[in-house]
Amino acid sequence: MIDLSVNIGKLKLKNPVMLASGTVGYGNEISNFTDLSKIGAIVTKSVSLNPRKGNPPRRIMETSSGMLNAIGLANVGVEKFIEDKIPFLQKVNSTLICNIAASSIEEYVECVKILEEQDTVKGFEINVSCPNVKEGGLVFGNNPEAVGKITEKVRAVTNKTLIIKLSPNTASISQFAAVAKKEGADAVSAINTLVGTAFNIYTRKPVIKNITGGLSGPAIKPVALAKVLEISRNVDIPIIGIGGIMCWKDAVEFMIAGASAFELGTVNFINPNAGIEIIEGLKKYCEEMKINSISEVTASYIL
Ligand SMILES: Cc1cc2nc3c(=O)[nH]c(=O)nc-3n(C[C@H](O)[C@H](O)[C@H](O)COP(=O)(O)O)c2cc1C
Repeated sequence: MIDLSVNIGKLKLKNPVMLASGTVGYGNEISNFTDLSKIGAIVTKSVSLNPRKGNPPRRIMETSSGMLNAIGLANVGVEKFIEDKIPFLQKVNSTLICNIAASSIEEYVECVKILEEQDTVKGFEINVSCPNVKEGGLVFGNNPEAVGKITEKVRAVTNKTLIIKLSPNTASISQFAAVAKKEGADAVSAINTLVGTAFNIYTRKPVIKNITGGLSGPAIKPVALAKVLEISRNVDIPIIGIGGIMCWKDAVEFMIAGASAFELGTVNFINPNAGIEIIEGLKKYCEEMKINSISEVTASYIL
């Protein structure tokens, strides 16, 4: 029997496969297409204190080997999330991580305080790295002091697992991981999307109404891997790898580079059952490589 379970700080997941924020709604949007009970963890769409409509369309487009999105953190708000979405998630035998977005430190704290009382929520992923909103997002994600303050203040109001989701749109991602660790985060997740844009050559206008969007998908995998490796070499904190994972081989690469677990994003739009296929692939890889526990793969790079 291969042991696929992994630990993210004090949280144990049955396997390292997590579904990335914003790509599976609140779990309900993908549940007809895959068996969520087999997935290690579900990360919700970013939840904010108040409902958000998000940006005006057009908000997504396909690119070479990926996609641009500027959804602008559209979500139902924390109260509706608890009322309408948690009852479904309660019935799913997976681990629920709530991703939180806010435009002020107080708002992050308030949102986490409210959700702290929900037993179904096992941890928080704090989104300090959304490139598609004017307030919050990268205003925080590009500033180590702000990331430190958010981590410290949120840590003070929760005993649940605390993950800080880092932006790749910085010169030194490990500096941010170090700050998150210092202020009490249990883990960091990396990466959020890279800022990108595209033009319609006939109208000369940006394709995305917001002008820029976040680039995701296979196009960003090498960047994401390098960021995970950078954190792994410089900071002793569990890392959740994200960025362009399409199959089990991609996932293994992230684990070798330093990830304890990983999240699937854009692939969910192409193959919503990818998570299950990756679990099967990981088992076969471990058998072939004579690995007893998948966690042995984490940071097993030979440089
Ligand atoms: C349509 C879309 C919406 C997203 N919404 C969020 C979000 O609300 N919060 C967040 O932290 N990340 C969000 N992300 C970023 C993903 O969680 C992930 O970090 C990113 O897409 C890179 O992974 P991938 O290449 O596997 O897609 C979104 C990504 C996409 C494609």
